[in-house]
Amino acid sequence: MPWRSRISLIMSDSAARILEELVQNRGFCSGEELSGALGISRSAVWKHISQLRRDGYGIEAVKGKGYRLQVSPGYPDALETGRFLHTSTLGCRIEHHRSVMSTNAQARKLAREGAPEGLVVTADAQTGGRGRMQRVWHSPPGVNLYFSIVLRPPVPPRVVPQIPLLAAAALHTALASVAGGVDLRIKWPNDILAGGRKLCGVLCEMESEADMTHVVIVGIGVNVNLRDLPPEIEGLATSLLLEAGYEFSRPELLALILNDFEPLYRRWLEVRDLSPVLGYLEEHSWLRGKQVEVDQYGRRLKGVAAGISPTGELLLDMPDGSQTMVSSGETHLIPDNERT
Ligand code: BTN
Repeated sequence: MPWRSRISLIMSDSAARILEELVQNRGFCSGEELSGALGISRSAVWKHISQLRRDGYGIEAVKGKGYRLQVSPGYPDALETGRFLHTSTLGCRIEHHRSVMSTNAQARKLAREGAPEGLVVTADAQTGGRGRMQRVWHSPPGVNLYFSIVLRPPVPPRVVPQIPLLAAAALHTALASVAGGVDLRIKWPNDILAGGRKLCGVLCEMESEADMTHVVIVGIGVNVNLRDLPPEIEGLATSLLLEAGYEFSRPELLALILNDFEPLYRRWLEVRDLSPVLGYLEEHSWLRGKQVEVDQYGRRLKGVAAGISPTGELLLDMPDGSQTMVSSGETHLIPDNERT
């Protein structure tokens, strides 16, 4: 898919096309070439170049040669991410915001306006990032990935809760491919942990009728290059940088996640259960074989995590020898000194 169709609508179309020309050209592009290619005046080219510089793009200007892109700010936008994308639908359009309240809220708004499956909303920062259970999702600028994917799966709403586990499998595969030495684990129902601390979370929201799914928004937050954790999540959360000791490219990581998610999602649409990823989820599970407590809106269940069902429930071996299927809730490991 050509990059142009992925260009964010937030950046002006001309600025995006200038960037595209500079990226593709690699060398110098004269003002005349750019104005000819875009059908705008040379002073308009200059104004867009100035705006791009203010946005963090290092663009060199040399008399007699023209403009050359030297430094990209590494935003997870259409242009930067598109270079690494191999998908046919996911990321077909990427709308990037320097700052937005919540990418989930923005994706939901666009979906209500008719946004197609595959639209991805990304942000450099969120002012009201949300997690599950109404929690705040720490969303400072310049360091992490915050994005939401619009899906329109032709499936009944009852199978939609499986999607976070699919996303978790894709996240795990993508992160493992760039941070091989980090011990990454999938925690049912939708977290990725590194060294037992939270690295990614998935917030899936749906609009549906009784037996028809209209839209699913898959919101994903990944702590990528975060160095400083605020006190409220210190000890509970971590980042790829803190675990691996080096920085990661956010646009490349976003593309890897979408590249891995798309085939899993396609396969899931065919079989409508998690059987294709069940082995992977089990292999990389954080909970499997451990004593856990599940908090289900006030009801607490204790047992040993035995696995995940093809329909996405957590299987709990109970102290009385029975097995329970848990469909939702927060899971915690039971510390050794509290075990029965
Ligand atoms: C959780 O583990 O509680 C889920 C966290 C999900 C956070 C992401 S960041 C991008 C998207 N926008 C939001 O407001 N939330 C999700």
